[in-house]
Amino acid sequence: MRLLTFILIAMLAACSPNEENNAVENEAADSFYEPVPAMHYPVDNPWSKEKEELGKMLYFDPRLSGDNSVSCATCHHPDKGWSDGLPRAIGFGGQELGRHSPTIINTGYFEVQMWDGRAPSLDKQALGPIQAAVEMNQNLDELVKELGAVPEYVKRFQKVFGGMTPENIGKAIATFERSVVSNNAPYDKYMTGDKSALSASAVNGMSLFFGKAKCVICHNGPVFTDSGFHNIGVQQHGPLQEDLGRFNISKEDFDKGGFKTPGLRSVSASAPYMHDGSAASLTEVVRFYNRGGDVKENLSPFITPLELTDFEVQDVVEFLKALDGAPIVISSPQLP
Ligand code: HEC
Ligand code: HEC
Repeated sequence: MRLLTFILIAMLAACSPNEENNAVENEAADSFYEPVPAMHYPVDNPWSKEKEELGKMLYFDPRLSGDNSVSCATCHHPDKGWSDGLPRAIGFGGQELGRHSPTIINTGYFEVQMWDGRAPSLDKQALGPIQAAVEMNQNLDELVKELGAVPEYVKRFQKVFGGMTPENIGKAIATFERSVVSNNAPYDKYMTGDKSALSASAVNGMSLFFGKAKCVICHNGPVFTDSGFHNIGVQQHGPLQEDLGRFNISKEDFDKGGFKTPGLRSVSASAPYMHDGSAASLTEVVRFYNRGGDVKENLSPFITPLELTDFEVQDVVEFLKALDGAPIVISSPQLP
């Protein structure tokens, strides 16, 4: 249904690519609008306030790393849009990693985790970076021993789970991550009737996003991701010569250079952008799309030059900024 609507819009936009189409394209925006739903918690890891609080402590606790120097928040910090402000993460021992730290915002809604989708759920994902030699370099049995020597943690794990295990550490952290939600942006206010919530530029950007610029093909649904993988033609930057992305997992040729479509709510806070942090600003990102990507090998057929004027590029950026949600208020926890 969504695809059908899109094809219709694309045809209309192709016929006469000018502002007369704004009305039609705003209808497209209407037909695609989905507010952010309530968070869904897995059956085997239901929400409780105590669990979320425990997860928050663990998320901010450097005890989770091998030398007690790094916490999840080091690379996914609230003050940096829940990322780290760096093109590529700095890992254990100070080495630069190959990929950019994605934001934690709205990950609770994602069907798959990581740029290549290798982690199916947040509950399982959390144990990955703890053990990864290049990230937190911690042995899970050691960690349970270390946290087991902290009476406050023992008490809290006992209360929430009936005991401390690596699996329960992951579950608690995932529960906290599910509380990091961006919703209720100016865009939502506009779509639900407050026409003063968006500037004229953002409204035009919205028409472009859902029409001529065809961003909606991949960035759709309530948090603006199709949970799919696409090669959009990013020129690889950083220590990796080449990053085949999704192909490393699927071994399907068409996945070469394919990365997960990121969500776009509150995206303005988590610069730089892309799996390798190669785009410094949202303006750079939209200019990149406007020229039809940089690397043509195995490029998605949906990435083509857009012929947006400089004003239109800026309008799309204004629309992206209108996806900034209500502030996510999280105070750093008192660590035991
Ligand atoms: C050294 C920096 C670093 C630390 C520490 C770190 N991460 Fe990450 N995180 C990354 C990078 C880089 C990626 C992307 C890796 C990839 O896709 O290959 C990532 C990916 C993720 C994702 C996937 C998000 C998405 O949109 O797909 C989640 C969730 C996540 N990390 C949570 C955590 C949690 C929880 C912790 C602590 C237990 C943690 N991270 C510790 C750097 C870090
Ligand atoms: C063919 C699918 C597709 C289309 C069309 C598309 N995107 Fe993307 N977008 C992606 C993927 C995949 C990535 C990540 C690619 C990478 O890192 O290599 C991405 C990355 C981004 C990012 C960076 C987010 C971050 O957290 O790093 C922004 C912003 C963005 N897109 C906005 C847009 C806009 C605006 C448009 C329309 C002009 C658009 N996208 C069109 C699939 C798409």
